[in-house]
Amino acid sequence: MPHIVFNKTDLINTPSSKDGVEFKFIAKSYNFTTHERNTEYKIAVENQGKEFLLTLKNKDNDQMIKIDKVTRIAPITLVKDALNAYVDSINPKIVFSNTNSIHQKAEPQKEFLKDINYFVDEFKTDKEIQIEVGFGSGRHLLHQAKNNPDIQFIGLEIHTPSIEQALKQMKLQDITNVLIVNYDARLFMEFIDSNKVGRIFVHFPVPWDKKPHRRIYSNGFINEALRVLKFEGTLELRTDSRKYFDYCTELLTNLPTGKITIDINKDLEISSKYEDRWKKQGKNIYDVVLQSQSVDEPLVIQKDFSFDFEINYEDKISSIPTKSIVDKDFFVHIEDLFIMENEKNSGLIQLTMGNFDRPVSKYLLIKNGKIDYYQGSPLPTSSNIKAHNKLKEILN
Ligand SMILES: C[S@@+](CC[C@H](N)C(=O)[O-])C[C@H]1O[C@@H](n2cnc3c(N)ncnc32)[C@H](O)[C@@H]1O
Repeated sequence: MPHIVFNKTDLINTPSSKDGVEFKFIAKSYNFTTHERNTEYKIAVENQGKEFLLTLKNKDNDQMIKIDKVTRIAPITLVKDALNAYVDSINPKIVFSNTNSIHQKAEPQKEFLKDINYFVDEFKTDKEIQIEVGFGSGRHLLHQAKNNPDIQFIGLEIHTPSIEQALKQMKLQDITNVLIVNYDARLFMEFIDSNKVGRIFVHFPVPWDKKPHRRIYSNGFINEALRVLKFEGTLELRTDSRKYFDYCTELLTNLPTGKITIDINKDLEISSKYEDRWKKQGKNIYDVVLQSQSVDEPLVIQKDFSFDFEINYEDKISSIPTKSIVDKDFFVHIEDLFIMENEKNSGLIQLTMGNFDRPVSKYLLIKNGKIDYYQGSPLPTSSNIKAHNKLKEILN
């Protein structure tokens, strides 16, 4: 992590700029939850159109400046340049620095690797969609894609080496009908239109016998799967775990709609890496296929993350809860507060919010009483919207 340690000096003046880097404002920690005596500052920076925060705090008898993790941006050279510009502005004695900008290696071509925001704002297709959850080695996903060129495949995975491997194979085999997303499959379907998907493959998911809340299958996941599936589209589980099979069968048989088919040791055209392993061990392989029997309402994504009121920040501070607010499917936790000393009624609120499985860390920027999300709104998931509404209640 790039950082610079230097002898204590005065803070930079804001607003100011140095070597093309703009220093916009400074907010001082209120030590809201930590009550530490060690004062921390957040310094708002803009470099080449990207806004982020730097953290300045004491380190022994010196000071250290580094990127604020919540607002981390890429490429890292923009951060290093900002750190260098900060110390060049105040000209202290430098104790340590690892911010020499080194020429960055070119990113490998990642045309088919998509950020989740792409599915919120841009993704459109007239083709049928098929989704594979946790594609691992990618053997099944790429086999399907090659044999079904008219179908748009989406591969979901959270293990980066598997993603790199699949992208490499796609390039070697010239496969262009797959989009890869590094995102938790339990939350992905929220961004896919209703009645668009022909098949969802969930092959050999981790059974999580000791942590069932981490399982892919839940009532929420199944309901979202049914919504995105076309009439007669299928959600296809393949597993070697008898416990997982029983758990899923119970969830699926209690649904008000849908048709279930169960098989044991069915042969597929292609055997995945995990399947090979279990077959060699002589284990049974179970298939449970749920077929959609309904046509669902179109998807409406709620995207309003505005705050339609102003606050008196200094007055509000004493009533902001320090404990997490936890509800059935969302939470809000205010982590810390920062106050701008040379601007009235202004500061930063650091918080974590949203879904327990995928919490989001953000800052709220308060400028003369107006509130907004720093670096833009959270992803419009249903949990984030609920958490946002709770925040409005807390701050209003
Ligand atoms: C046991 S492996 C099976 C891989 C592959 N389907 C196969 O049959 O060889 C499970 C895979 O699911 C991925 N995974 C686990 N939880 C996930 C989640 N919530 N969203 C997306 N992928 C997940 C893991 O990273 C892992 O690659």
